[in-house]
Amino acid sequence: MKDFIYTGHAQRVLFGSGTLARLGDEVDALGAKRALLLCTPGQREEAQRVADVLGPRCASVFAGAMMHVPIEVAREARIAAARLGADCAVAFGGGSTIGLGKAIALESGLPVIAVPTTYSGSEMTGIYGLTEAGVKRTGIDPRARPRTVIYDVELTHSLPLEMSVASGMNAIAHAAESLYARDVNPIVALMAEEGIRALGRALPLFGGSDPAQALAGRSDALYGAWLCGTVLGSVGMSLHHKLCHTLGGSFNLPHAQTHSIVLPHALAYNAEAAPEAMSRIAAALGGGNAAQCVYDLAGSAGALLALKDVGLRESDLDRACELALRTPYPNPRRLEAHAIRQLLQDAYDGVRPSVHA
Ligand SMILES: NC(=O)c1ccc[n+]([C@@H]2O[C@H](COP(=O)([O-])OP(=O)(O)OC[C@H]3O[C@@H](n4cnc5c(N)ncnc54)[C@H](O)[C@@H]3O)[C@@H](O)[C@H]2O)c1
Repeated sequence: MKDFIYTGHAQRVLFGSGTLARLGDEVDALGAKRALLLCTPGQREEAQRVADVLGPRCASVFAGAMMHVPIEVAREARIAAARLGADCAVAFGGGSTIGLGKAIALESGLPVIAVPTTYSGSEMTGIYGLTEAGVKRTGIDPRARPRTVIYDVELTHSLPLEMSVASGMNAIAHAAESLYARDVNPIVALMAEEGIRALGRALPLFGGSDPAQALAGRSDALYGAWLCGTVLGSVGMSLHHKLCHTLGGSFNLPHAQTHSIVLPHALAYNAEAAPEAMSRIAAALGGGNAAQCVYDLAGSAGALLALKDVGLRESDLDRACELALRTPYPNPRRLEAHAIRQLLQDAYDGVRPSVHA
């Protein structure tokens, strides 16, 4: 075995069904007394359940979380936290809400308890993003990483089918790219492969008619999302994440769906340059060609397959390619403009990747 470095990040994680009931104890364990509860406007009603669990520990509910954390929203939430004398934040929701919690933690140092309701994996990373004047700035800071994560499978049942599958594919994308990261190590690879395997098992069950199986699927998916989020927070990402960041940030495409659609094509692009990673991805999904396995999983589970179906215009493809190539970043295969333009075209059309690609 080659030499390697593995850095562990201290976070307390509770996993199960009904774990939300332990939220109050977790606030107490942090030595906190007044929590600012964060959510999106769409999850305001569900958040009331969380507020009820917190009881007198809930200082207030801030229901203004939005995709890509606009700086104005972050400022408003930080001011609310200071005015209320909050000594911790509870981020209840997907990557958008957890991102808002991170923005508060970065400036105020308040500890964050994340209660994820999607499979974005953001709760396991110190990666943050803030959008100012339409430009999203991202960075990594250990202060942004939530101190405690409460995974409660019951909170994921309300996520609509298409979004559930897309979000699960978003998680798979973290694990797939970690397998060919420059700084990958055997521990990260182990978690990545297990994460892909759990999600590969889970996603096809979401839309089935058997409630027991759907329940088992939800549990596996959340476990997989935890592992995939952990690897995202541990090693560097490559072409796929760069393309999705560009498409989401510059063309306002939905985050999870964009990941889900682009992933098979990014894997096809990198296939020959990263054969070991491809074998591990394919093995986790039942064998065959990695890019095709990922495409077939998304399609059979009910995800959208084409960028033209999530709001991109064909006339945007040249600019997307140019933006994605503007600054260099690590990737197993050299960044070739013509081939990346073709990758984007294939993702736009939603074609199944061919084996030789
Ligand atoms: N920093 C990181 O490590 C990291 C990782 C992944 C994603 N992200 C960021 O997270 C954002 C995307 O997060 P996301 O894909 O989780 O989507 P999201 O948080 O934007 O949620 C999408 C929609 O689904 C709703 N929703 C969430 N959970 C629900 C549930 N259980 N039931 C019903 N509705 C529910 C939300 O209210 C929202 O309207 C992007 O801004 C992305 O950049 C960050």
